Amino acid sequence: MDISTLRGATKGLITLDSGYKNTGSCKSAITFLDGEKGILRYRGYSIEELAEKADFLEVAYLLIFGDLPNQEQLDKFHADIKKHSVVDDDVKKILDAFPKSAHPMGVLSSLTSALTAFNPESVNVDSEEDMYNAIVRLIGKLPILVSWTMRKKMGLPLYYGDSSLGYVENLLKMMFKQPNEEVYTQNPILIDALDKLLILHADHEQNCSTSTVRITGSSHAGLFVSIAAGISALWGPLHGGANQAVLEMLEAIKADGGDTKKYMAKAKDKSDPFRLMGFGHRVYKNFDPRARIIKKAADEVLGDLGVEDPILDIAKGLEKEALEDQYFVDRKLYPNVDFYSGIIYRAMGIPVEMFTVMFALGRLPGWIAQWREMRLNKEPIGRPRQLYVGETERAFKSIDKR
Ligand code: ACO
Repeated sequence: MDISTLRGATKGLITLDSGYKNTGSCKSAITFLDGEKGILRYRGYSIEELAEKADFLEVAYLLIFGDLPNQEQLDKFHADIKKHSVVDDDVKKILDAFPKSAHPMGVLSSLTSALTAFNPESVNVDSEEDMYNAIVRLIGKLPILVSWTMRKKMGLPLYYGDSSLGYVENLLKMMFKQPNEEVYTQNPILIDALDKLLILHADHEQNCSTSTVRITGSSHAGLFVSIAAGISALWGPLHGGANQAVLEMLEAIKADGGDTKKYMAKAKDKSDPFRLMGFGHRVYKNFDPRARIIKKAADEVLGDLGVEDPILDIAKGLEKEALEDQYFVDRKLYPNVDFYSGIIYRAMGIPVEMFTVMFALGRLPGWIAQWREMRLNKEPIGRPRQLYVGETERAFKSIDKR
């Protein structure tokens, strides 16, 4: 039921739905998902088909502008993004000011906000043309910030990228190229796996970070700061931070002797706050369709790289035990996309603290699409109500009487 026009007529009646489990915040034509049936579609196209047949920038175009691009539209989109694949040198000074120990998500969110200062034309974007220009700017610049954030963490000098390469190949080179490396050799299996990971993360309707982007943008704050707000929301371990939390949990289990049964028991013990990270999902109550696709990619990457890693054995053990455990079966808790993405990122050599940054880059097109839809629909400023449960009116007490 659409009650959005009733507000003035409800005479103080408020729907209370903590966590917005059953509250719609908008109408959207971008992403359809059916958690019971495990269906995820972007603009009507199944996630399985997109992951198989499209690349990340095609999917980005689809999400943002509503249809798959023809060759001419795609070429222009690529060219416009490439034109803006530069970041002002002064942004490096901001990066330099962060300690090496800073969490990359905090750094990425800050630098994304800071880009506003260097791209003031991206703030007041009322026409579709202004929006387009802000969008291609951000899609061009974010991979640079991602790679700089990682290189800083790893103590590597910054690298500006190679404009002759595709988006994902360039990203990998910007992240991994070593200073003494004359020729950087690309691995097609890693390119394909990363492309798929970015596609699978590209949108997921009104989750915590996306709703944050929409609500921030609803005040007509600019695109870059709305996305920076989304990055901050994504950071938490119950949302995008879960992929980092998964690896940290696996490390902790290994350090404690690798007894997966002990941790299964902890996860089921209601007096213990521990949860099995990477299991469960607010909307997918049977399986996460993205997890199926990415599990296959994880197997390919591990096979190709010939990785032998006790952490991955622990992951496989937990996966098997959880799928056979009545507690997990009854609550429909299956491995989610973060469970497998963390495994792939680790095998690729990406530092654990960078995992959520990779998620953020994948989610960028979805956030942009949702922000653009919200602006084009001329949605009102987001302003939820509350149920006040505090003190009634009190007389002020002077400090000597408290
Ligand atoms: N380990 C153990 N028990 C769990 C787990 C878990 N990972 N997840 C849920 N449960 C249990 C709860 O204790 C609860 O049990 P009860 O009914 O006996 O009280 C029941 O399953 C339902 O849990 P809720 O918290 O009500 O489920 P909700 O839909 O609110 O939470 C969430 C979903 C946050 C993803 C949760 O499953 C969780 O914390 N998972 C671990 C963190 C994680 O992997 N997050 C990534 C989500 S995907 C993403 O953001 C891309």
